[in-house]
Amino acid sequence: MSGVDIFNSTVNLGDSEDALETNAAEFDKVIESRRSVRIYTDDEIPEAIMKKCLHQALLAPNSSNLQPWQFFWVRDINKKNKLVEYCLSQPSAKTAKELVVAVARPDFWKQNREQMLRIIEKKDPAQVKAVLQYYQKIVPLVYNQGFLELFGLLKRLIVFFRALKIPTPRGPVNRSGMLIWAHKSTALACQNFMLAMRANGFDSCPMEGMDPVRIKKLLELPSEADICMVISAGKRAKNGVYGSQIRFNEDQFIKIV
Ligand SMILES: Cc1cc2nc3c(=O)[nH]c(=O)nc-3n(C[C@H](O)[C@H](O)[C@H](O)COP(=O)(O)O)c2cc1C
Repeated sequence: MSGVDIFNSTVNLGDSEDALETNAAEFDKVIESRRSVRIYTDDEIPEAIMKKCLHQALLAPNSSNLQPWQFFWVRDINKKNKLVEYCLSQPSAKTAKELVVAVARPDFWKQNREQMLRIIEKKDPAQVKAVLQYYQKIVPLVYNQGFLELFGLLKRLIVFFRALKIPTPRGPVNRSGMLIWAHKSTALACQNFMLAMRANGFDSCPMEGMDPVRIKKLLELPSEADICMVISAGKRAKNGVYGSQIRFNEDQFIKIV
């Protein structure tokens, strides 16, 4: 996008991070042994592991680093029982040692933009000019939809005509676009959590077989919040996985063009 410095200049926000040596064989084990587990044993998940995996969920890549998510680790026994019921009492919820509700927060762009600005403003101004411009001008332009989504409507018109001539980001331009925006990042964080669980010897299952309206009430969430999924976690029982993993022919999904 012309006029957006962040796409045309380099930025230095402080110390860079070198790519660590990693162990592909260990990663293969984690990713290939992750399965959706429907029956868990009675083994507890240590609190420290739950906290570490939740922390690692938040390390997921996310749009504009605006972190549009929340994770509710439901420990209160009454709330947990309700949550199991709202997950339709499916076995994965019923036998789970722990339950985490992943919530997409499209509304968080505003407060998290402020937080980001406060961090950037402490850095060397010469090095962060483009990032400052991004969070001060571009972020509100992109994520603000305005009263009754009227600003979004105006953006849609502008985008339409601009895109006839040049490559143009098309959205989000309304509330559902904002929901998709927040859900993408939240789902990535969910996968981080589930892989972290596996790496620590535990298992999980993402669940959208649930009643999001009741869960929102249970967690006293505002109308803007949207339940992404509930994740059950625990130790896999012998019969916890319903058979070997089924995937269709890769040619159907992987296209090298
Ligand atoms: C968004 C999403 C929602 C899901 N909802 C449920 C669910 O409600 N209950 C369930 O038992 N499994 C659920 N699953 C698990 C899938 O059924 C499972 O991932 C799929 O069958 C592939 O199996 P695997 O994860 O063991 O590879 C869900 C998975 C995803 C990604």
